[in-house]
Formats: sequence, structure tokens, C-alpha cells
Amino acid sequence: MNQVQSQPETEPAHATSAIEAQYSRGDLRARIIDALQAAGKSLDRLSINDLGLLDEFHLLGRAATTDLADLAAIQAEDHLLDIGAGLGGPARLLAQSYGCHMTTVDLSADYCETAEWLNSATGLSERITVVHADALRLPFPDGSFDVVWSQHAQMNIADKRRLYGEARRVLRDGGRLAVWDIIAGPVQPIHFPVPWADTPNISFLAQRDELRQLLQESGFEVVAWNDLTSQTIESLRAQMAGPAGPTGLQTYVPNFPTKTANLLLNLKEQRIRMLQAVFTCE
Ligand SMILES: C[S@@+](CC[C@H](N)C(=O)[O-])C[C@H]1O[C@@H](n2cnc3c(N)ncnc32)[C@H](O)[C@@H]1O
Repeated sequence: MNQVQSQPETEPAHATSAIEAQYSRGDLRARIIDALQAAGKSLDRLSINDLGLLDEFHLLGRAATTDLADLAAIQAEDHLLDIGAGLGGPARLLAQSYGCHMTTVDLSADYCETAEWLNSATGLSERITVVHADALRLPFPDGSFDVVWSQHAQMNIADKRRLYGEARRVLRDGGRLAVWDIIAGPVQPIHFPVPWADTPNISFLAQRDELRQLLQESGFEVVAWNDLTSQTIESLRAQMAGPAGPTGLQTYVPNFPTKTANLLLNLKEQRIRMLQAVFTCE
């Protein structure tokens, strides 16, 4: 695994360490092993299906990833960069289903180490490169990727101009940016804690029109821009009505029931909205 880059110039050090503290857990791998064993899975023959809901740390789960991949027309020959990839579940799904090569970056060393272990355990290491780095200082040359992909990571990043500037820099001309994200709704503030932030100091939700303009100023042209708030509310309601399976996100997200309840409340009260979007760049 590559090393994390030095502190970015635009984010104060305390914000970076607060984000790492939000996500990292010393016992992450042990928790996942316990959950898999409780679900009767064999650690010697692990498939991505065995990992269940814990493999996609975003709303709408695996469906969000496959829908976005279809919208972005992912092909086997594409090299994707997943920014804020977490444990790498979407990267494993894309690498396995589409045959593409994935590079993932995440700020949490804990998540990157666990992602490497899960890639190896599911036999996908050769198609996925895990890099421990900050999205604001991507350690790649200009034009390295066909697609930049990101799900539910930009909510932790204040400097969105730099984030999308970096995304554009590492994309080849004619490449695509695919995002599945939470943005601000018309009613503020939001209820905390939420899965990406226990407290407001690491939550940076963009207003829809400002985000769209910023992306255009960063060199991106809109191909698809879909508000999936209603579908997400229905899906979350259904999920909360059923039993939590042994391999859910509660395995490693502290206080998960409260955070999920706040997500639903924020969605229903129009404090947050769900954005699925694909862009291209000249
Ligand atoms: C809610 S998780 C989403 C993980 C993954 N994208 C998924 O959908 O399963 C957000 C992730 O963004 C990462 N992240 C937040 N800020 C980041 C930054 N500046 N650079 C890289 N990763 C970052 C966190 O460490 C965390 O793993």
C-alpha cells in the first residue's frame, strides 16, 4: 500500500485527523471477521456477496453502485480512480462485474489496510491498487484515469474547488466523473450524528446550484444530474423496518441506529438531498 501524502495546504491538520478519527477503528478487521463468522461465511473462500451490506458505505447500497456504473457506461478497458473509497466494496464490485482496473484512495490508513485484506480475501488484489492518500493531493500524474468515481466522501471535504480540480487534473481529456453524494437541502442545519460526521466540524454539505456551478468551473460538463431523494427515503424506510443482518454497517460504524435515524429525519425534513451525477470533460 502506498503511503499517505503530507498534510494538504488547504485543510488544517486538525480537520484531517478529525476525519481519520471519525472512520478509523483499531479493531476493524476483527469486527468484520466476527460478523462474517456469525453469518456462517468461510474466510478461506470469501466472495463479494459474502460481505453483504458492510461492503458499501453509502445510501442505496449495491444498487447505487451498479446504477451509477451503468449511467457512467463503465467498460472493461477503463481505469477508475475511486476517491474516498473506504473499505473498497464498490471497487471490488466494479472490478469483478466490469473487469475494469481500479485505483482507490482513502484518508484512513485503517480503512486502506482493511481494504487490501478484503481485496486479497476475495481474489481481486490484481485488479485493485489501494493508495493511502488525501483527495486534495492526489499522488498521480495528470490524465492518469478514464473515470474518477466518488460516493459519499465529499461531505467531509471543505475545499471542494480543490477536490474537483484534482479530479479533473488526474482525468484524461474526454474522461468521466461519476458521483453519488449527499448535498444540502433547503432546510438547515442538519441533525447530528450522521454516518460521515458525529459533529458539525467535519461536515461540509454543498448547496445544489453552487456545486453544479463549481463543477462546471472545474471543467466538467453535465451528462446526468438526478435527484434520488424520494427513492432513498423509501429504501431507507424499508431497510429500517427489517432486521439488521449480521454483516451490516453496524459492524464497524459506531452508533449506527441513531445515525441512520438521523439520516432519514434529515431526508424527510429536506435538510439533505441525494445526488447521482455523471460529467464529462473536454
Ligand atoms: C462514508 S465513507 C464512503 C466509503 C465508500 N466511498 C463507499 O461508498 O463505500 C467516506 C470515506 O471518505 C474518506 N475520506 C474523507 N475525506 C477524505 C479525503 N480528504 N481524502 C480521502 N478520503 C477521504 C473517509 O476516510 C471514508 O472512508
